[in-house]
Amino acid sequence: MLKSDIGIIGLGVMGRSLAKNMLSKDFSVSAYNRWTEAEKDIVPNFLKDASDNAQGFTNLSKFVNSLQSPRKIILMVTAGAAVDAVVSELKPLLDSGDIIADGGNSHFKDTQRRVQELKENDIEFLGVGVSGGEQGALHGPCIMPGGKQEAYLQFQPILEAIAAKDNDGKPCVSWIGPDGSGHLVKTVHNGIEYAEMQLIADCYAILSPTHSNEEIAAIFIKWNKGDHKSYLLGITATILQKKEGDDYLIDKVLDKAGNKGTGSWTSQLAFQLGIPTPTINAAVTARYLSSKKEERMKLSKAIPGHAIDEVPSLEALAATYRACRILNHHQGFEVIRAASDAHNWNINLSELARIWTEGCIIKSQLMESFVDVFKNHTSILDDRTILRTILKSEKPFLYTLIYSLKYRLLNSCISESYNYYAFITTAQSSAHIIQAQRDEFGAHTYRRNDRPENESFTTNWTNNG
Ligand code: 6PG
Repeated sequence: MLKSDIGIIGLGVMGRSLAKNMLSKDFSVSAYNRWTEAEKDIVPNFLKDASDNAQGFTNLSKFVNSLQSPRKIILMVTAGAAVDAVVSELKPLLDSGDIIADGGNSHFKDTQRRVQELKENDIEFLGVGVSGGEQGALHGPCIMPGGKQEAYLQFQPILEAIAAKDNDGKPCVSWIGPDGSGHLVKTVHNGIEYAEMQLIADCYAILSPTHSNEEIAAIFIKWNKGDHKSYLLGITATILQKKEGDDYLIDKVLDKAGNKGTGSWTSQLAFQLGIPTPTINAAVTARYLSSKKEERMKLSKAIPGHAIDEVPSLEALAATYRACRILNHHQGFEVIRAASDAHNWNINLSELARIWTEGCIIKSQLMESFVDVFKNHTSILDDRTILRTILKSEKPFLYTLIYSLKYRLLNSCISESYNYYAFITTAQSSAHIIQAQRDEFGAHTYRRNDRPENESFTTNWTNNG
């Protein structure tokens, strides 16, 4: 048998789908899955529906020997310890110049560590963000590769062939930058994803006391025909219409949301970089709050909600949703910009927005507009059209916020977005009070607005004379 163009380790849903996608583009693929009693059918099942260009293995060294040199291997295993375990098994089997690409949702710091560890053996390691779920992996994902550019170039023809295509037919894959940059942008992609999901959930929470599932679905379908168009809004409309017998399935889904950590990694990263991301943080917190079901049930009996005697304005809600989404994306891109500056990665935000226009979970019409915004600006809020849109949304935004507060309807990302909007549009904040307090109790010093910023002062605040 001829040696394969590429190898995939891990034939779970994503690995299997990526392998099928590569085979459909006429690449030859070797696939490996470990042999365990529970997983013994995985490789035979994969080979059953695969073309002649596929080879399957449960023996790692045979798998490695089936690959063309320099070997290109994609790991599609669960992020964390499993990646280290596979890498340490692979290391003695590989030759200098071979390349491992990790296609899971790994933490970028783990990727940085693995890049260094493998350097000792002259093996390249790429951290590759992959978005789009099973269907994306199968028919065209968005791919965010980071690591040494020369190593990426070895993968480029295959990744470009299998990636989703944007409106101009260009593949939604682009070298993000060196080191852990690919996994970092995938993490922030997920942070934005969390908030995009929660914003839709907030709109649902505001609408649901006065609208049926069918009516909310109709509203979302209408929104999805205009500038609100997004993959997540579209699937939510579909979800709301799904019936199980006479009932809506959504009403039977337990209201506790799980997570695998990438949302909270985005918040942690933002805190470390000193970048405010309250909309994203609120989405992460909402998932944790959702899991406190028993406590919520108990307290809702002690402190019941309010009777609702008015219907929310749909126009105001649409404008609120528009403003919040802009603020959410702004926060996410600011984290990427700050991380890129901190690590000297030189990430091209316009190109990143472009590859996020197709194949990934946060693809949307709004994302398409950011491709041009970032050609002219470093920050979304430097764009005058966007600022005008937010300004036009202020009144409806406030109306929606007051409506949801009045009836105690959940509004996690909406209220945090409003506070963010209020703060960043306020020239004189209240932080001078904080600075004076810090100086009073700890002589931490403060700066003055009537003196150069590099001068610091300390005062005995109790002595007024
Ligand atoms: C994607 C998704 C995908 C997955 C994440 C988020 O881009 O295809 O982000 O990677 O949905 O694992 O998962 P959690 O919601 O479980 O954290």
